[in-house]
Amino acid sequence: MSRRTPPASVLITGATGGIGRALALHYAAPGRILILHGRDTTKMDALTQECTQRGARVLALLHDLTDIDGWMNALDKVASVNPIDLAIVNAGATHIIGGDGESWADIERVLNTNLRAALATTSALLPHMQRRGGGQIALISSVSAWYGIPVSPAYSASKAALKNYGEAMRAWLAPRNIAVSVVLPGFVKSAMSDKFPTGKPFMLSAEDAAQRIARGLARNQARISFPMLLAAGTWFLAVLPAPVSQLLLQWLGFSRKT
Ligand SMILES: NC(=O)c1ccc[n+]([C@@H]2O[C@H](COP(=O)([O-])OP(=O)(O)OC[C@H]3O[C@@H](n4cnc5c(N)ncnc54)[C@H](OP(=O)(O)O)[C@@H]3O)[C@@H](O)[C@H]2O)c1
Repeated sequence: MSRRTPPASVLITGATGGIGRALALHYAAPGRILILHGRDTTKMDALTQECTQRGARVLALLHDLTDIDGWMNALDKVASVNPIDLAIVNAGATHIIGGDGESWADIERVLNTNLRAALATTSALLPHMQRRGGGQIALISSVSAWYGIPVSPAYSASKAALKNYGEAMRAWLAPRNIAVSVVLPGFVKSAMSDKFPTGKPFMLSAEDAAQRIARGLARNQARISFPMLLAAGTWFLAVLPAPVSQLLLQWLGFSRKT
């Protein structure tokens, strides 16, 4: 599929977070409808005001994504009235492993937010896009989809699954004029990356990340992966023999021993 025309309406989940907020401000423009999802009223009110000042019309959706059925119903209702040209499935949660490993409650929260809710968002929107004969979906995965990062196993697993889902859906939906891109960012400054206990090589600002994502989406890239060195490095970890990759990760300080 070729370049996409600028979207008239954009849905962003997790718009109150670092990358989501930067994306919302990037797309905020006169004549555009932004459907912004979050769960924090104060952050959402402030973001709505900023986007409105830039000329966008904002519809705010406040919802905890772990309530999957409630979220799908809410989204279905919104999409019936407001056709969505571009959906950026961005909301995510992380967990850093501790000395006792990851509790089931933490694993479940991460998988529910990053994987189940992301697939539920896509599933709720697809019938509407298919009826209209087109649309675009961006799934925000991570470079950790290439190779599991020892400090966050459940998070890495959720992002790897999301990447595979997006790749499969892109091929299936292309003949239906629905474009699917998988976004694989490296470190981006946000509340999430602030929790990461190791070094954060080549970290980008959320604004820089938002611009790279929007550029890739306009070009309808299958995979939007950045920054280049980290993207290439993590891809390389996946193709090297596993013992070599694990030694490299240890050497780089990404294996927490406590
Ligand atoms: N930052 C990085 O280095 C990095 C790298 C690779 C990929 N990513 C991915 O990029 C996406 C955005 O991350 P970020 O860095 O911008 O993190 P962030 O600042 O922590 O933002 C995460 C967003 O998701 C929302 N969210 C989390 N759990 C939710 C739930 N149960 N229900 C509803 N909303 C929920 C948060 O809402 P609240 O504000 O209410 O918590 C927030 O709006 C995530 O998918 C993340 O995995 C980030």
